[in-house]
Amino acid sequence: MKIVKSVICLSLALGMACSSTAPVGTTPTAAKSAIDIKVDSVLKLMTLQEKGGQLNQYNGFYDVTGPEPKSGQAAEKLEHLKKGLVGSVLNITGAEQVRNIQKIVMDNSRLKIPLIFGFDVIHGFKTISPIPLAEAASWDLRTIEKSARMAAEEASAAGINWTFAPMVDVSRDARWGRVMEGSGEDPYLGSQIAVARIKGFQGTDLAANNTILACAKHFVGYGFAEAGRDYNSVDVSEATLENVLFPPFKASVDAGVRTFMNAFNDLNGVPATASSYLQRDVLKNRWNFSGAVVSDWGSIMEMIPHGYASNLSHAAEIALNAGNDIDMESYAYVNHLEDLVRSGKVSEENLNDAVRRVLKLKFELGLFDDPYKYCDAKREKEVTFSEPLQIIALDMALKSVVLLKNEQNLLPLPKSGKRIAVIGALAADKTSPLGSWRIGASDNTAVSLLEGLKNYPNAQITYAKGADVALGETKFVSELTINTTDKSGFAAAIETAKNADIVVMMLGEHGLQSGEGRSRSELGLPGVQQELLEAVFAVNKSIVLVLQNGRPLTIPWAAENIPAIVEAWHLGTQSGNAIAQILFGDFNPQGKLPMSFPRSVGQLPLYYNAKSTGRPAANEPNSVFWSHYGDVPNTPQFPFGYGLSYTTFSYNNLRLSSAKLTDSQKITASIDLTNTGKVSGTEVVQLYIQDEVATGTRPVKELKGFELVTLAAGETKSVTFTIDKKMLEFFSANRKWETEDGTFKIYIGTNAQTNSFKVLTVE
Ligand code: NOJ
Repeated sequence: MKIVKSVICLSLALGMACSSTAPVGTTPTAAKSAIDIKVDSVLKLMTLQEKGGQLNQYNGFYDVTGPEPKSGQAAEKLEHLKKGLVGSVLNITGAEQVRNIQKIVMDNSRLKIPLIFGFDVIHGFKTISPIPLAEAASWDLRTIEKSARMAAEEASAAGINWTFAPMVDVSRDARWGRVMEGSGEDPYLGSQIAVARIKGFQGTDLAANNTILACAKHFVGYGFAEAGRDYNSVDVSEATLENVLFPPFKASVDAGVRTFMNAFNDLNGVPATASSYLQRDVLKNRWNFSGAVVSDWGSIMEMIPHGYASNLSHAAEIALNAGNDIDMESYAYVNHLEDLVRSGKVSEENLNDAVRRVLKLKFELGLFDDPYKYCDAKREKEVTFSEPLQIIALDMALKSVVLLKNEQNLLPLPKSGKRIAVIGALAADKTSPLGSWRIGASDNTAVSLLEGLKNYPNAQITYAKGADVALGETKFVSELTINTTDKSGFAAAIETAKNADIVVMMLGEHGLQSGEGRSRSELGLPGVQQELLEAVFAVNKSIVLVLQNGRPLTIPWAAENIPAIVEAWHLGTQSGNAIAQILFGDFNPQGKLPMSFPRSVGQLPLYYNAKSTGRPAANEPNSVFWSHYGDVPNTPQFPFGYGLSYTTFSYNNLRLSSAKLTDSQKITASIDLTNTGKVSGTEVVQLYIQDEVATGTRPVKELKGFELVTLAAGETKSVTFTIDKKMLEFFSANRKWETEDGTFKIYIGTNAQTNSFKVLTVE
């Protein structure tokens, strides 16, 4: 403990309280500089080799419950740990495990600089929330923040103090499997949700033992992978980068996010990891980001296959110079930075800047005061899977469900008196509802739909599997074998449907069919499920189709023929309970789609905030020469912002407080919203704006505000949005963010296809 003591004494001698470790951006300037001075006091003690080590991040490597390193690499990692050549680790969890690893550093290394423990807490840790795309469908920022708070509580109790979330990549292509991990296609909604999630993870005091560092990722362009194929190249214009991809990242910085992750992809010819334009010019200089940038897993090393670096040392040089602070699993920094500085290829100033950023995080977390502060096995036991967390997970799941279709009010189902057949392997599945990216949770820990339905003891339920979605064992890392052949359960399912009044069919994607590396070129119901649906429909048309999936699917046949469709995503631990409450009407659905659902894969990328083109519509019947497909309409199956309720709403009397907006003025746009149905319900009222003529072509509509409004049956409320010039800014032809004078259409409505507007003139 000698060196740690010396660091602490130095701090005390300088008159600083060691506990002033709250995050930069939320604390007074004095506290900020206090941390900076402490950081410098540590930095001064470090050798070049230790500095490189501080930027080195390793994956879990040492089984502390049976302390034999598993491979040669593990032995080397352990050696590095003892020598203080590891700054952070990922995928080591559990209060005791974390304590043991931290202890190796504290007992053996020269400077005893504590480790940070990172983990992909993407949508919960052990208690799993809906996948982020589903949470985004709630548009409910407070509940989303609570869900992230819950995840931080549970993860921090297991020793984790850094999550690699939120993923704030905007994406317009459902072929990309990682759309499940983001907030969908809209930069405004995505920004709001990014802020909510960061607040939830980081709280107001990072030094508290139940808050964790958040990480905005993947900077940038990863969600625009060409053709939706994961890790593929990205080529976007500066205008799209600024207007569409940057906003959620900028909002994350403004919300005080303490870390960023760069991306696997190359962007306009430069790997994101190598881009000093992105990491230094934009992020650290223009946006003033004072936290640390971590590479994606091995993305420094991947500059070699990208054809951008000739070897690992070259890759390390490029990455560090470009502003990539931490090396996740490339072994590049730990092995090469010292030499690179000695040979002058990397300046010590740049190295110091990166190390400072990492040390600063450690002070902010309070790790120098107590390296074991997240290692309380008693708290871990109390918090993990506890009742309050289940309540939050259930609430989030309920609000994430989107009702896509409900003809003749087939839903809600009567709680008794009808025979209900439940069909589909997913209805009994206790793992798939956890979705992808839930690596902290164990299999079989979700409430299945069948289990959820048992909460309604008077319901007469029969069950038939019909067909499996995937065949054989499914492990996190393996490719799934989708069932395209086994229809042996069809006959029993058809029989069960024949003997029922109503059929609930749960179909869709296996929990691991979306997520990283899970791109798809077809987005229909996988395997034999479409056939099963049609076979059951042939004997019973009263079908409620419950979709369970991690991305928009193409379901044109179901959209036309099936009377009721519920989008239930992968809803997490409480999935079955939430769906049952929705089906039986104990919760009125209120979710709205955060991504357009295409009619066909050929429409992708598909997004509501598209440009008009010069030929947006046919100018005469049967015209061919306009921007369209010959075989499918341009419109989505279900648009962005769409979702039904068990009640109905009407929008009336759209009005502006003034038809003109000048410089510092603000005006308001209002609407009267009435619940015209028989039950109370919540509507997400959406404000869209179109800049009609500009120096750069502008989208036909852009979301600029939304509000959740709960109304009793028959009740009316006016909903008001304030509009100022700032809201109308965009990255213009002058290559800067500005508002251009002219006319703007102001829409308020129930989804992105709303077409009633008022014109606002901006001067
Ligand atoms: C690769 C993923 O792209 C990234 O999002 C994740 O945080 C890291 N692996 C660490 O698991």
